[in-house]
Amino acid sequence: MIDLVEAFGAARSFQRGGKTVAALAPTTCRVRAGDRIALLGPSGSGKSTLLHLMAGLDIPSAGEMRWPLLGRRDGLLPGKVAMVFQSPSLMAPLSVIENVELPLILKDGRDDARATAMEALKRVGLADLANKLPEELSGGQGQRVAMARAIAARPQLLLADEPTGQLDQATGLALIDGLLNWLAGSPTALVIATHDLAIAERMERIWHMDHGQMCSAAGDER
Ligand SMILES: Nc1ncnc2c1ncn2[C@@H]1O[C@H](COP(=O)(O)OP(=O)(O)O)[C@@H](O)[C@H]1O
Ligand SMILES: [Mg+2]
Repeated sequence: MIDLVEAFGAARSFQRGGKTVAALAPTTCRVRAGDRIALLGPSGSGKSTLLHLMAGLDIPSAGEMRWPLLGRRDGLLPGKVAMVFQSPSLMAPLSVIENVELPLILKDGRDDARATAMEALKRVGLADLANKLPEELSGGQGQRVAMARAIAARPQLLLADEPTGQLDQATGLALIDGLLNWLAGSPTALVIATHDLAIAERMERIWHMDHGQMCSAAGDER
């Protein structure tokens, strides 16, 4: 099967205060259609760095990223790849529904963008907040809107960076279960970064991260 994204010894380091911080040690992994993968690790272990490389938002300092099924790095977002960011990422002047609709319009100006966006908001249980502004939402609601925005465009690769980080565990698990339900049987691949083992265990595979190193779960060929 052809891979959606492949990392070949991909590494990322940053310069900080004259020192080099190795955020991600050379990493080799692949994501295929239909995969359900958790990136599990403590804060600072390199999860966000790897997701940003997978989304093509950042480039590795060494090694290489490839997207055999998706094409060039500059054509991934929005559409083929969707990213749910760890930090708030909604556009402040736009209403909730307009935020969710935006990637749909950017992608192909769909006439049914509004209806599709509403359907995605229903999926995350926030249809009644459609006309609110982002500043009127709680952190957890904002994360759920960001999730709706990501799923609405039906990406081939969905990358979610601690999407339940501002929710209590029960609400977080319910959101993930809703997402998995929505994705059931679909070829969309999901990679979700979390430090919550209960969330990670909902996925088919767990990639453990620690100090920028990925140490695979037993039996996982990556
Ligand atoms: N832009 C950056 N500049 C400097 N250091 C960074 C930057 N991004 C990440 N780091 C460092 O790289 C390491 C991994 O970060 P990150 O990928 O955000 O981890 P996680 O998402 O698992 O919390 C941390 O030590 C972090 O401080
Ligand atoms: Mg992170």
